[in-house]
Amino acid sequence: PEAITVQELANRMAEKGADLVKALFNMGMMVTVNQTIDQDTAELLVEDFGHRIQRVSESDVDIDTADDVDPEETLKDRAPVVTIMGHVDHGKTSLLDALRGTDVVRGESGGITQHIGAYQITTKNKQKLTFLDTPGHEAFTQMRARGANVTDIVILVVAADDGIMPQTIEAINHTKAAGVPMIVAINKCDKPEANPKKIRERLLEHEVIVEEMSGDVQDVEVSAKAGTGLDDLIDKIMLQAELLELKARPDRAAEGTVIEAQLDKGRGPVASVLITRGTLKRGDVFVVGTQSGKVRAMIDDKGKQVKEAGPSSPVEVLGLGGVPNAGDQLTVVENEQRAREVSEYRSEKAHSQRTAATPANFDAMFSNLK
Ligand code: GTP
Ligand code: MG
Repeated sequence: PEAITVQELANRMAEKGADLVKALFNMGMMVTVNQTIDQDTAELLVEDFGHRIQRVSESDVDIDTADDVDPEETLKDRAPVVTIMGHVDHGKTSLLDALRGTDVVRGESGGITQHIGAYQITTKNKQKLTFLDTPGHEAFTQMRARGANVTDIVILVVAADDGIMPQTIEAINHTKAAGVPMIVAINKCDKPEANPKKIRERLLEHEVIVEEMSGDVQDVEVSAKAGTGLDDLIDKIMLQAELLELKARPDRAAEGTVIEAQLDKGRGPVASVLITRGTLKRGDVFVVGTQSGKVRAMIDDKGKQVKEAGPSSPVEVLGLGGVPNAGDQLTVVENEQRAREVSEYRSEKAHSQRTAATPANFDAMFSNLK
């Protein structure tokens, strides 16, 4: 059952919290304004104060994006979002850095790397790719647990001098569970003891059948250290992306997923958001999880201020009312009133779900009335 705090109910009725506490006391309930009461009690109170009960449906007070599907003709190609997974020390971070180094835009502008949770590169052929900056399956599964499936393609890094290790297997399992296609990057191929052939064979035991073993999983030999095989890897990611037909509508109110967020000493709450559809613009009003805000500034992964960000772009957003959680959805809304309404509703809901977990013996309280 739904629950509400006495104070919130008082606010909604435009009555004093203390008056409600008094009325509840007369009903035999000892509660403070900060405690929650159940729906039945709330209804009794509302009637007691001569107010009318107005039932609202969830879609009136929250955002319902489930059946808000963009028509086919409005969709445009978008960059694939790639996550790198693999065992400890197999070279995930090194590979991310090496791929970042292939960015032609970064090369030209000499932009300074900003770690905002994800970065985007532009290839020699002017194609764009987005990489999530937090490698490893923990971040991946955490996001999935929150209902945020942002990854289109997983790169499984396996060190050619080490082989299939426990976290390699975990990464394979998580990727399969998520139904996300995988590309195997056999890393450290510069090492004399590297044995890529053995890796391919061993992968068979985990039902990962690479092309060379007549399967359909793409694999590529790379060296993050020597910088070899990177173009090949990028080509294979783009090929996989083409098969997935990744599309989103750019010309609409933006939606995105928080990949990380924190309270910055100088700038207040900041969130790195991966835009999933639409275009986020400076001045846009939004709801994100239980928080609301207005885009004051946006900074890209090259430390540059940007005025807007489209699908598959990662961007750091300033102008939030509080710190959201990773995996929270950001949704642009019509105005500040709507943003406040939705975020307040969600905060109350989250609050009552928390307080409802503490046992409140209403039956015992009501028995006093009999
Ligand atoms: P964790 O974050 O600890 O799980 O490790 P990681 O997977 O991010 O590996 P990282 O990139 O930190 O690399 C681990 C070690 O392997 C470092 O000493 C790297 O210099 C080395 N290394 C990474 N890639 C290569 C490569 O292609 N060749 C060689 N020879 N060494 C590499
Ligand atoms: Mg690392």
